[in-house]
Amino acid sequence: MEQPTQNAKLLAWVDEIAAMCKPANIHWCDGSQEEYDRLCGEMVEAGTMIRLNPEKRPNSYLCRSNPSDVARVEDRTYICSKKEEDAGPTNNWTDPVEMKATLKGLFEGCMAGRTMYVVPFSMGPLGSPIAHIGVQITDSAYAAVNMRIMTRMGSKVLDVLGSDGEFVPCLHTVGAPLAEGEADVPWPCNDDKYIVHFPEDREIWSYGSGYGGNALLGKKCFALRIASTMARDEGWLAEHMLILGLESPEGERTYVSAAFPSACGKTNLAMLIPPQGLDGWKVTTVGDDIAWIKPDENGQLRAINPEAGYFGVAPGTSMDSNPSAMKMLAKNCLFTNVALTDDGDVWWEGMDGDPPAHAIDWKGNDWTPDSETPAAHPNSRFTAPAIECPCLDPAWEDPAGVPISAFIFGGRLSKTFPLAFQAKDWNHGVFLAATMGSEATAAAVGQAAIRRDPMAMLPFCGYNMAKYWGHWLEMGKKISNPPGIFRVNWFRKDENGKFVWPGFGENMRVLEWIVNRVNNKTTGVESPFGTMPTRGDLNWQGLDFDENSFHSIMDIAKANGLAEAAEIGDYFKQFGDALPGELEAERVKLAERLEGAPEVWKITEAA
Ligand code: OXD
Ligand code: MN
Repeated sequence: MEQPTQNAKLLAWVDEIAAMCKPANIHWCDGSQEEYDRLCGEMVEAGTMIRLNPEKRPNSYLCRSNPSDVARVEDRTYICSKKEEDAGPTNNWTDPVEMKATLKGLFEGCMAGRTMYVVPFSMGPLGSPIAHIGVQITDSAYAAVNMRIMTRMGSKVLDVLGSDGEFVPCLHTVGAPLAEGEADVPWPCNDDKYIVHFPEDREIWSYGSGYGGNALLGKKCFALRIASTMARDEGWLAEHMLILGLESPEGERTYVSAAFPSACGKTNLAMLIPPQGLDGWKVTTVGDDIAWIKPDENGQLRAINPEAGYFGVAPGTSMDSNPSAMKMLAKNCLFTNVALTDDGDVWWEGMDGDPPAHAIDWKGNDWTPDSETPAAHPNSRFTAPAIECPCLDPAWEDPAGVPISAFIFGGRLSKTFPLAFQAKDWNHGVFLAATMGSEATAAAVGQAAIRRDPMAMLPFCGYNMAKYWGHWLEMGKKISNPPGIFRVNWFRKDENGKFVWPGFGENMRVLEWIVNRVNNKTTGVESPFGTMPTRGDLNWQGLDFDENSFHSIMDIAKANGLAEAAEIGDYFKQFGDALPGELEAERVKLAERLEGAPEVWKITEAA
């Protein structure tokens, strides 16, 4: 095939990788619909994909992975900076020279018998000053078609790249070379897996997995791990955040960005439908997973969603929990590891209505509601183009990004933490974000009560976490109108272990307060944790939520707060000298405020 670029660096890299991986063919992806249809058709032929019933789910496919290849592999994910301390205590590290040698051994001949796809892609609107280009080389057609949904992919990216543009090389193989005449399997992969990042060289090498973030290298590998190091060096932020537009009944639009650890309903929040009583509000989605955020020439932080699609967890998605997502999935989607119904459609646990009487589960076996295993894998996914999202924000492709007025951080915490509170200032906000997390699951009992997931970046920060906090603190000094920083907790439980807050669309009541706060329309009261809404500050129209319930998710128990401050002290120790002094100072201030508080601090309207 004629080479579709004059970019010498790209041509040399493709030659070098082809010489090492020894594919049977090379295909440069142009990103066209014809190419996508052809690759999907080939995968149907090969048994990798199943075409869904075109009457039920037009132009959509189901894929079943190998049962050993169903999720990101954090223990096989490496940050290979030259110095170990630059990866920090929360990342796996190996010396980059040693790791390159290991990988070169594994990649030698790894694409034998396969096609090598060259996939040029842009993270962010083409040509946006916030966007960056990557090129993925992969031997997975599944990865290539997913990349077409998740990114702006194909020839148009090569046009922007030109003859001397920069790109991040993203090398991927499933690690399953085919011997002469050997038949392929539907989902090739390797038991040995390596997801490796070389931050100084801005390179990604991924070996052995075809699934999700292991294989769609634009997402976690580039847009978070490598981009976070680029952002540190260049003065911006690459964050694991959704971006939401909130338009008030008066027509004023405010954008907020929010970070939650896994399993906190991030995609649902990104597509929230305002509840009864707040139906004058309009919520629009800019992104559901990643935000790249830069100060503009006036020092205002502006964010883009570097992705062009959603790679969401299917189970639990329903007309009840997320009607916009359900509408988005009506056509032009890929599904991985969900169940197949007898009429050629998809199903997963938590979908509306009764379960089907019979289905084929994600492993390809017969399934009925009496089966002991789930029909869809708990981490089964949809890959959906953003343009199919019915609540897509009109500015989602604005190359300048949208102005961010608030950062929201949350976790899954059954006690201690109120529904919502605001940081007193930027440094306090960075402290709140750095110490966020979700309650440890039963498996982790015996360790700390909270599994900290700073800024929801624990598996995604490409350098030393403490230095990353330092970068956040520095950013606060560079921006003219710093966004308000908030912590939320939808998951507090009562003494019977039941969630008190209804969540989902009702979270709009908290978002409305946040918007009012950043637009100076409400004051709130000072608590030991931060600034909190009184009951009167929240809009209760359409929701019956009594005063006792309100107190049960807003009161602060001094003993719990002090235990948290002490636990944070232990947590901080692992970062040694790299920990910014500002964060320890915030921890001390928190403890002092709590020492001065009553046993149970309660909001009073008059406070
Ligand atoms: C994701 C994740 O899949 O954060 O988005 O794990
Ligand atoms: Mn994510």
